[in-house]
Amino acid sequence: MKTLNVNIDHVATVREARGGNEPDPVAAAVLAELAGASGIVCHLREDRRHINDRDVKILREVVHSKLDLEMAAHEEIIKIALNLKPDMVTIVPEGRMELTTEGGLDVAGNPDKFKSLVERMHGKAIEVSFFVEPDKKQIEASLITGADMVELHTGIYANSEGDLFGEEFNKIKSASLFACEAGLKIAAGHGINYLNIKPLCLIPEIGEFSIGHSIISRAIHVGIERATREMIEIINTSTLHRSLNR
Ligand code: PXP
Repeated sequence: MKTLNVNIDHVATVREARGGNEPDPVAAAVLAELAGASGIVCHLREDRRHINDRDVKILREVVHSKLDLEMAAHEEIIKIALNLKPDMVTIVPEGRMELTTEGGLDVAGNPDKFKSLVERMHGKAIEVSFFVEPDKKQIEASLITGADMVELHTGIYANSEGDLFGEEFNKIKSASLFACEAGLKIAAGHGINYLNIKPLCLIPEIGEFSIGHSIISRAIHVGIERATREMIEIINTSTLHRSLNR
């Protein structure tokens, strides 16, 4: 069964637009969970652009499914994570000027640094996922660090059309198989919406989706519970079609 983790960062983005205390990402997390989300994701950035320290503290208390703290491998944030003890951390690259995470982490460029990060997180029973491109080199490096999971970057797939869409899909498909055979759990995330998720549901090795922008955008019109439920329905029916067509 494939599960949905809802990223609530953009609720905090709207709050920060006015600097007050609404809308509250904590309320969004509770409602998404009630609607069936299997996990809540939030990204505590060094610049605290959206989610802040108060949010993660309360989220840790109220999220009963799985709290996935997205974070860069920066010492200040690592210490916060070790204290907070989310169920898992997803390690991402972070750039000051980026609108959102722009690509996968270069785990292969510094495996020792990331190995030590995994050891520290595992010491507190926190699972570790690396957000990487669908690329064998990065998956192999993630395995060497002792990571539990890789989240494959689907942003390029989501933004491509025509032949390129097929090529990017095939990269995600073969990277998923490679990571699964290596013994890693697999998530997919970035740019996934109510349409482009359908082909991804046909990849058996993908176990989890991490989705923010499209769900929060739809939630503005229909509410977060319905937006979450509709995404879960698509995941379940698209996955079911695959098993019926085996
Ligand atoms: N996964 C990771 C690692 C991300 O950085 C993000 C964006 O915060 C997402 C998933 C969700 O992406 P989107 O908001 O495009 O659904």
